[in-house]
Amino acid sequence: MFSIRDKRIVVFGGTGFIGRELITRLARSGAYVTLFARHPQRCQELGVLQRVRAVTGDVRDPLAVARALAGQHVAVNLVGVLAAPPKPMRALHVDWPARLAEGGSALEHIVHVSAAGANSSGPSRYLATKHEGEARLRETAAPWTILAPSVVFGPGDTLFNRFASLLRMAPGVMPVVRAQARFSPVYVGDVAEAVIAVLTRPDYAGQRIELGGPEAWTMRGILAYTCRQLGLKRLLVDVPDPLARLQGAVMGLLPGQPFSTDQYRSLTVDTDVGDAALSALGIEPAAVEAHVPFYLGAVSRQAQFDRFRREGGGPTTTP
Ligand SMILES: NC(=O)c1ccc[n+]([C@@H]2O[C@H](COP(=O)([O-])OP(=O)(O)OC[C@H]3O[C@@H](n4cnc5c(N)ncnc54)[C@H](OP(=O)(O)O)[C@@H]3O)[C@@H](O)[C@H]2O)c1
Repeated sequence: MFSIRDKRIVVFGGTGFIGRELITRLARSGAYVTLFARHPQRCQELGVLQRVRAVTGDVRDPLAVARALAGQHVAVNLVGVLAAPPKPMRALHVDWPARLAEGGSALEHIVHVSAAGANSSGPSRYLATKHEGEARLRETAAPWTILAPSVVFGPGDTLFNRFASLLRMAPGVMPVVRAQARFSPVYVGDVAEAVIAVLTRPDYAGQRIELGGPEAWTMRGILAYTCRQLGLKRLLVDVPDPLARLQGAVMGLLPGQPFSTDQYRSLTVDTDVGDAALSALGIEPAAVEAHVPFYLGAVSRQAQFDRFRREGGGPTTTP
């Protein structure tokens, strides 16, 4: 087992949902962390952590990347985009891992976060480019590990939080696209711990690992559970696939692409990958029920405070 204490680790995409969790844990483990993103100022709370420095840059800028890689032991790549036109998506999912593979060839380890279900014949641009990016990353001379999570949940996620917003707005009826699509939602803290675990285990170099949580959920199950947590009564109506495709085509034209044909296609691939990989890494996979009620507000502030204290937090806030 290696230690990451005093290792210099650059995290590309460190301001994102997974990145914020990872950086906090890396810093706590004693690593020196460089956070690389276009808008690091969005995470000023990370800037106060000792051993964390933020660098503003775009992974499409070879000079900025070369500067960020200089003197590092390890790189973690979290840059990805769920919805984007073909060219920018390819630039981030394929061209960028290829550049990282080459520029990071002298590193001790590269951890590349892809997505469960990434496949060369992937029905969506997202899954197909993720797969191609994995292939390009594997060409590096450095030891590498690819982590491919199913959907990730946790405070600030775009899964339960997004559905909660949609359900609150829904006028009694909520259409459910790909209602029977299956996932193994995995807790963001467990994904971050998996990154740290593979960095300390040389036997994980050269492996691709799919990460899932302890339970398989359907899309309908996730929505029904979210309704229950919010105390909302909504009629969940399964949308037939042809209609869902049409919905994707129409919503894909809206600003911010709230839903798209490509996202619809990604949902045709089940990612109920199970939690065996997390367990093998020595991580006890967290269930949805252990965290979601806390950040959806279904648990009282007093109970949240009690848990915070129980888990070792200091009295920095009052209920
Ligand atoms: N969240 C999930 O459920 C999930 C599931 C499976 C796989 N994944 C994969 O896991 C990875 C991380 O996911 P996430 O949810 O943390 O994503 P996220 O919240 O969208 O974060 C993406 C990060 O990439 C940075 N970024 C985007 N474009 C960039 C560019 N051109 N140059 C530099 N930085 C750039 C963003 O910061 P700036 O905008 O400031 O640059 C941000 O820090 C992604 O590859 C994603 O595909 C996520």
